[in-house]
Amino acid sequence: MSKDLKEDVGDHLDNKVERSKSGILSRGAASVVTAVAMLAGVGAFVLSSADTAKAQNANYGVDITPKWNDKGELLQPTEFRALWVYLGSPFTPNALNNGKAGFPEYHNVYVQPSAFKAYRETGKWPEGTMMLKELQLVDQAKGDEADGSRYEVSGRGYFPGAVNGMDVAVKDSSRFGETKNWGYFNFGHHAPPYAKSAAAAPAASCAQCHIDNAGPDMVFEKFYKPILTPLPLPE
Ligand code: HEC
Repeated sequence: MSKDLKEDVGDHLDNKVERSKSGILSRGAASVVTAVAMLAGVGAFVLSSADTAKAQNANYGVDITPKWNDKGELLQPTEFRALWVYLGSPFTPNALNNGKAGFPEYHNVYVQPSAFKAYRETGKWPEGTMMLKELQLVDQAKGDEADGSRYEVSGRGYFPGAVNGMDVAVKDSSRFGETKNWGYFNFGHHAPPYAKSAAAAPAASCAQCHIDNAGPDMVFEKFYKPILTPLPLPE
């Protein structure tokens, strides 16, 4: 069975049945297996409810769910540029950080549409929220001026160039209860392609700084507030 088909089948199983470990599910068989497993329980395909919750997390309140491999690593989210909501781009250029910013790129932040909608309605991020940060280098990092800026017809400034890395944060209280319900993943700090999957980073590398400095639910909402807020309609 092709990888795409396997993922497709996995999606149809809808968090209730573990994906086939042996990979023998076919598209046609999936609905049958789902029905049988839900009614009767089929040992080969059904984990204990606790394991199932952890494997696929039935509690996700999002349309595009995080996907995990057998090692518990997060699979790289796909098509976020086309299908997710763009929240903004905090930016820490080298020129303003003694020439050596940890992340000299624009930090382009995206979130799933359903998480965006839920946050607007409730002020809370639902289980399964993914905050995805893609790094984007300044075009011509040295620029024309001492501060690295340069000129375009629109004026003097910094302009976006090549993309250069991906970080993802996932809200999943069953996996990351020890770090305020969020896990943090680095898919590489370099040009694409980024890693296919990533293990959760140690708390000291990522989560701790978010615990200490971010908003109450681990996200730096203050930078995204203008876009998280509905645009007033014209009179
Ligand atoms: C020293 C503090 C610090 C550390 C360590 C850190 N972050 Fe962040 N992170 C921030 C700040 C501040 C922002 C928002 C502003 C920005 O991007 O500059 C942010 C934003 C993010 C965002 C966008 C969503 C949000 O919470 O605002 C993601 C995703 C993210 N970080 C992932 C990671 C990952 C993955 C790691 C570890 C590899 C990591 N962070 C380590 C401080 C930190």
